[in-house]
Amino acid sequence: MGFGVLGVFLGLLLEVSTHGPHAVPRTSWRHQDLDLMEFSEPGIFNYSTLLLSEKKDALYVGAREAVFELSKKNVTIRNNKVQWTVAEVPMMMCTLKGKSKERDCLNYIRVLQVVDDERLYVCGTHAFQPQCDYLNLADFSLAGRAEDGRGKCSFDPSQSFTTVMVDGELYSGTAYNFLGSEPIISRYSPSQSLLRTEYSTSWLNEPSFVFADVIREGKNRADGEDDKIYYFFTEVSVEYEFFGKLLIPRVARVCKGDLGGQRTLQKKWTSFLKAKLVCSMPELNFVFNVVHDVFILKGADWRDTVIYGVFTSQWGNVGLSAVCAYNMTAVEEVFSKGKYMQKATVEQSHTKWVRYNGITPSPRPGACINNLMRQQNISSSLHLPDKTLQFVKDHPLLEDPVLPIGNGPRLITKDVNYTQIVVERVRALDNNIYDVIFTGTDKGVLHKSVVFDGEVHIVEEIQLLKNSEPIKNLLLSSETRSLYAGSDSGVVQSPTASCGRYLSCDDCVLARDPYCAWDPQTAACINIIDIPSQRLRKLIQSLNGDADKCPSVPDVSLKYYQHVKVKQGSSAELPCLVNSNHAQVMWKFNGSALTEASRFHLIGENGLLIYSVAQEDQGHYECWSVEWAPAVGKNFSRLLAGYVLTLDPPPRSPHQTGHVTTPFVNQESSSSLASEGNGNTERAPLTSALAPPSFTATVLFTTPPQTDASLTPPPSSTIKSQPKLHLPSSNAPRPENVGDPSAEYLQHNNSTALLFLFLLFFLLFLAALAYNCYMQYLPAPCLRMRAALLGSNKSAHQPEYRACEAGLMETAATDKINMTEQPTQNGSQTTQNVRALRDTGYETEPECGNGRIPSHSFGDDSPSQEKPFDVDCDSQPIQFADADEAY
Ligand SMILES: *[C@@H]1O[C@H](CO)[C@@H](O)[C@H](O)[C@H]1NC(C)=O
Ligand SMILES: *[C@@H]1O[C@H](CO)[C@@H](O)[C@H](O)[C@H]1NC(C)=O
Ligand SMILES: *[C@@H]1O[C@H](CO)[C@@H](O)[C@H](O)[C@H]1NC(C)=O
Ligand SMILES: *[C@@H]1O[C@H](CO)[C@@H](O)[C@H](O)[C@H]1NC(C)=O
Ligand SMILES: *[C@@H]1O[C@H](CO)[C@@H](O)[C@H](O)[C@H]1NC(C)=O
Ligand SMILES: *[C@@H]1O[C@H](CO)[C@@H](O)[C@H](O)[C@H]1NC(C)=O
Ligand SMILES: *[C@@H]1O[C@H](CO)[C@@H](O)[C@H](O)[C@H]1NC(C)=O
Repeated sequence: MGFGVLGVFLGLLLEVSTHGPHAVPRTSWRHQDLDLMEFSEPGIFNYSTLLLSEKKDALYVGAREAVFELSKKNVTIRNNKVQWTVAEVPMMMCTLKGKSKERDCLNYIRVLQVVDDERLYVCGTHAFQPQCDYLNLADFSLAGRAEDGRGKCSFDPSQSFTTVMVDGELYSGTAYNFLGSEPIISRYSPSQSLLRTEYSTSWLNEPSFVFADVIREGKNRADGEDDKIYYFFTEVSVEYEFFGKLLIPRVARVCKGDLGGQRTLQKKWTSFLKAKLVCSMPELNFVFNVVHDVFILKGADWRDTVIYGVFTSQWGNVGLSAVCAYNMTAVEEVFSKGKYMQKATVEQSHTKWVRYNGITPSPRPGACINNLMRQQNISSSLHLPDKTLQFVKDHPLLEDPVLPIGNGPRLITKDVNYTQIVVERVRALDNNIYDVIFTGTDKGVLHKSVVFDGEVHIVEEIQLLKNSEPIKNLLLSSETRSLYAGSDSGVVQSPTASCGRYLSCDDCVLARDPYCAWDPQTAACINIIDIPSQRLRKLIQSLNGDADKCPSVPDVSLKYYQHVKVKQGSSAELPCLVNSNHAQVMWKFNGSALTEASRFHLIGENGLLIYSVAQEDQGHYECWSVEWAPAVGKNFSRLLAGYVLTLDPPPRSPHQTGHVTTPFVNQESSSSLASEGNGNTERAPLTSALAPPSFTATVLFTTPPQTDASLTPPPSSTIKSQPKLHLPSSNAPRPENVGDPSAEYLQHNNSTALLFLFLLFFLLFLAALAYNCYMQYLPAPCLRMRAALLGSNKSAHQPEYRACEAGLMETAATDKINMTEQPTQNGSQTTQNVRALRDTGYETEPECGNGRIPSHSFGDDSPSQEKPFDVDCDSQPIQFADADEAY
């Protein structure tokens, strides 16, 4: 079993990162393209605690040394603020204990809970001496009667913890001591003494708490059991033998009515039970074993409740995140019927804990008090027999795991770390209900996904935070139709849907956003929640993305095409904007498709660059988007831009370099091909087509390595190459060139300096090219050239590669290799076996399943920019392997 686990975790790294299913967001929006409402105050950081008021127009924000009341309709409006700083004495004691004055010994507000209509309960880390107080909402002031916050709030501001207020009692999962070494799940109520977990590794073993919430069952249960509080956390496994610390995601629960035991488990939970949460891909043996956040989507009845969790693997460099969903009924089933585990006494077992097969005492250990027990005169946990209590004290862990709905993740995404999740149920026009999943990442990006027919579709990704920093907290309000994200630097509010960003019917339908539909009357993509029901019938929505439902677009006459006049020998850049990552761009010249091999045509980004325009380049150019809609099984093509290119007579000296920037012809709104602008401010104005030649083209030549025709990357990747995490621009095709200060500089200099600079850049470029090629940072064609020049001299990087593979072989071999190939101890032979296993067809495959998997979404093939290939393979650095090529 131990080896099984090992194999599971290691053998899969390679497999999953390449073969595993994963989704790509259809559209990507940059921060500056969005109209978001943001809040932050200078000098204040760590806006990580958020609380939405149900009754008032208020979003309460707990930050470092301050609590704010913002308007939940518009978080830029600050209605109240109170500061809570640390006095000198506790600050001194904190620094004396070796904590940093600027960082640790401050008061991080971490608990904000509603007590009643007039008061909030607020706790802060308070220089490693957690304190709580009441916040009076009428005048927004603290009562000034600080209470001990131990067990309610963490000491350490960076330690994970969770709280939930239920009927005036505060349930927390945190650490009870300064060192953070004593984990505790506790209940604090003003009228009773603290009820807590036993201090034992079988109860909690280095947990990292992520979420807690109450499930109200009381009213709906015939058996008279009461409400339960569920905790979600990741802890170090006690049950598996593993060479390091193996993390396990857990769900634990306690009963609200628990009062502790009479003699055994005095002031301790008598109803604490925990089980393993499973989020894995059984077909690939891949396990996501770290839970980062949980959202409980509550239904009218507790049985309709669905628990959503975001997971990654303990081995972060696999670069995969997953969302799993759990049926509340299944969770309940595990806790009420599951088998217990107990510490193994015999050494022959691989695991340290085994299933308990003996007779369990009655009433069932860990069960909530129900009618049956009441009949036996057990009306509270104080009356539970010692046998039951002793058993649950020793057996808090259940063997049966909680399995996800559908036995696998709802969503798997590459190259992101999800940190937060919220879910909203939406009734679409087809009258079905869809769960829309919003996930926040550690880079400030938000993903919006919807599950259709068991397949997940990521509608969009949004750069929610200005900076690339983690989303620390994410809330959703159906009332204001907004999402609220808290981060270290501020609070951001974003609408749950911005249908207006889709400018054509095709785009609106292909987006497959359950909130959005196309209104043919107004020719706009609108949020269906805004629409009175009698008008809904007229709207067009197709959640499988069938754009054929859209009214057909009449052929566009040539006369609406943008006319571009260029001097012979100069270059012309024809921009084209595609906002779908699922679409490919196809350029047509005089009606036939251009390939990237076409002479003098460079298809970079999505635009077309024709340099040294000649007589025969005259004609009409069209930019088409070809989008694959998997749920329909069909490609949808649409014209995005059209140009008529003519030479500007009389032709001048061919030496003169010129450049014409033509505006994007906005064809999104299909009715008006020549209509200009979709709300973009960065786009060049129409008149710039006639502007004097600027020299941005010169700069263009020096920047991307693709300009070299010999370096044409493999076809799959050329058509769309977009910046990696920097979300591709939806509106401005080349901001980095437009805004390039060096371009400005060039314009204001005479041509001698220009020529000089050009030569300099060119030389630099050549040097960089040669260097990168030598260092094997560039893809196949270069490597081939390099191989030709240097011979297959790969020994330089080979040892690391071997070492890494050997490391994997030792562990993965038992499980994976044995099954498929006859194992040989010969090193090179086994190497080939492994390679065979993960032969993916990618020419440029990073080895060892590190986090840098070629991403479909951004097709990042501009390898000279960064050095993505000296990555960690758990411990050994791996060079970008050209091995697949040469073998
Ligand atoms: C939010 O409030 C600010 C001023 O406080 C205002 O400028 C802005 O327009 C408001 N935004 C919305 C969407 O109402
Ligand atoms: C608080 O914010 C600062 C500044 O962004 C950050 O460096 C620090 O890690 C944050 N601390 C915690 C505990 O989140
Ligand atoms: C949960 O499981 C129960 C019983 O298997 C089933 O009736 C219910 O529909 C499921 N709920 C969801 C949301 O899948
Ligand atoms: C419960 O208590 C009542 C009165 O205290 C007693 O009459 C009854 O026999 C008890 N029942 C059981 C099952 O012990
Ligand atoms: C995800 O997090 C891990 C560990 O924090 C980090 O090593 C990795 O680079 C992150 N991956 C991405 C894509 O951000
Ligand atoms: C393309 O079409 C234009 C007119 O529409 C024509 O003048 C030109 O010769 C054509 N070019 C080629 C290469 O067919
Ligand atoms: C859809 O378009 C893509 C890209 O142009 C192409 O590779 C694929 O073969 C097309 N599929 C079908 C079924 O037409």
